[in-house]
Amino acid sequence: MNKLAPSILSADFSRLGEHVSEIEKAGADMVHVDVMDGHFVPNISFGAAVMKSLVGRTGLPFDVHLMIENPDRYISDFVTENTEYITVHQEACPHIHRTVQNIKSLGVKAGVAINPGTPVCLLEDILEDVDMILVMSVNPGFGGQKFINRTIDKIRDLDGIRSRRNLTFEIEVDGGVTSQNVGHLIDAGTDIAVAGSAVFRGDIKANVESFREHMK
Ligand code: DX5
Ligand code: ZN
Repeated sequence: MNKLAPSILSADFSRLGEHVSEIEKAGADMVHVDVMDGHFVPNISFGAAVMKSLVGRTGLPFDVHLMIENPDRYISDFVTENTEYITVHQEACPHIHRTVQNIKSLGVKAGVAINPGTPVCLLEDILEDVDMILVMSVNPGFGGQKFINRTIDKIRDLDGIRSRRNLTFEIEVDGGVTSQNVGHLIDAGTDIAVAGSAVFRGDIKANVESFREHMK
């Protein structure tokens, strides 16, 4: 089944607990946690302490997206009873194979993300080891940006490679995803759709329901 992972980057941080309960009640599948360090991306969001304040407040799994340099130093901080995936960026990891093994050794699923300017071929040698590939469909750093259309081809490529090589990794798409384009993204091979502003702007319940409708 396809999953919807709302990004709390677009939530009201002063009401994070309430917002997470709201997406849970409305039928979201995971909480997407965008961690930014002001180095790998030109913005700072929040760290593990903020994420940990949500443990026990929701039964939803955490989908942690580390947009940080040197992620190996911080990975273990993000392992909680809610953490299902930890994703690092290919561009931030010179020893990506080791980093993926490090995440898995902590009992968490490992994801690798690629920026819009990074080709799928750079992932070739780790596809057997990862649980998920995150295709960035905006340049990471900010919510509310416009979806970059060319990135749909990357999802199709990954989906093709997955069936040709008989692999099992999931495909996630993140950035500019709306209830209007999510159907095309799923047709292209997406398993997990991340959405920030399209969920948290306006009526959260109605937004999640509209995603659900278009994800069938
Ligand atoms: C971008 C983040 C995204 C972002 C998505 O750097 O990784 O998860 O919050 O926000 P929208 O859906 O508004 O593009
Ligand atoms: Zn993200």
